[in-house]
Amino acid sequence: MTDILRTARLTLRTPDESDIDRLVELAGDFEVSKMLAVVPHPYERRHAVEWLAHIRATDGKDEQAFAIDDRTGLIGAVSFGKLRETPRIGYWLGRPFWGRGYMSEAAHAALTWLFSSFDTDAVEAEAMTENPASLAVLRKLGFEETASGSCASQARGGAMPSLVLRLERNTFLTTTQEATERETEKELVE
Ligand SMILES: CC(C)(COP(=O)(O)OP(=O)(O)OC[C@H]1O[C@@H](n2cnc3c(N)ncnc32)[C@H](O)[C@@H]1OP(=O)(O)O)[C@@H](O)C(=O)NCCC(=O)NCCS
Repeated sequence: MTDILRTARLTLRTPDESDIDRLVELAGDFEVSKMLAVVPHPYERRHAVEWLAHIRATDGKDEQAFAIDDRTGLIGAVSFGKLRETPRIGYWLGRPFWGRGYMSEAAHAALTWLFSSFDTDAVEAEAMTENPASLAVLRKLGFEETASGSCASQARGGAMPSLVLRLERNTFLTTTQEATERETEKELVE
């Protein structure tokens, strides 16, 4: 069974059938799927059902997916592939929920889970060069660029230039500790 992760504003949990309507609505937005590798456009109910079946077959083995829930329902997802090798993080949020720091919060919780559940030294990510919001999220978490690449996009039916980034376990722990210290200082001042 997947762990349930809680942050100040979000719950990360196993996606289930109750998420299908939200998945179709939010992942069906081309502004979301065009930045992703394996989400088709148009995104129909059957795609959501297939994704849930895929999760059931792979979760906890080679992959792990979490629904991001703002406590009104699913607003996005974060997942890890290649869990037994160098895990690779992927994520998306529905457009109405962008720009509120939600993905930074969700990805931080998911990475904390990853590094405490697996003894991997690092995690990788790939983002299209035309995706500054995702690159900003990754850099804030401590990811650093390692290579240029080419990222397939099912929704676009082609590949886009990308950057491959890597986060070392030690960098993540240091970044997290520094952020906690800054928060503590802020609370003491206020
Ligand atoms: C990428 C995505 C997950 C970001 O989610 P989010 O909750 O809005 O992200 P956050 O609010 O936590 O952080 C976004 C950061 O990007 C910055 N940003 C947003 N748009 C930007 C732009 N056009 N140029 C530069 N920076 C930008 C924000 O200022 C913020 O940084 P800050 O906290 O230092 O101010 C969301 O836009 C999304 O789902 N997009 C479509 C799918 C996708 O791109 N998935 C990732 C594939 S690699």
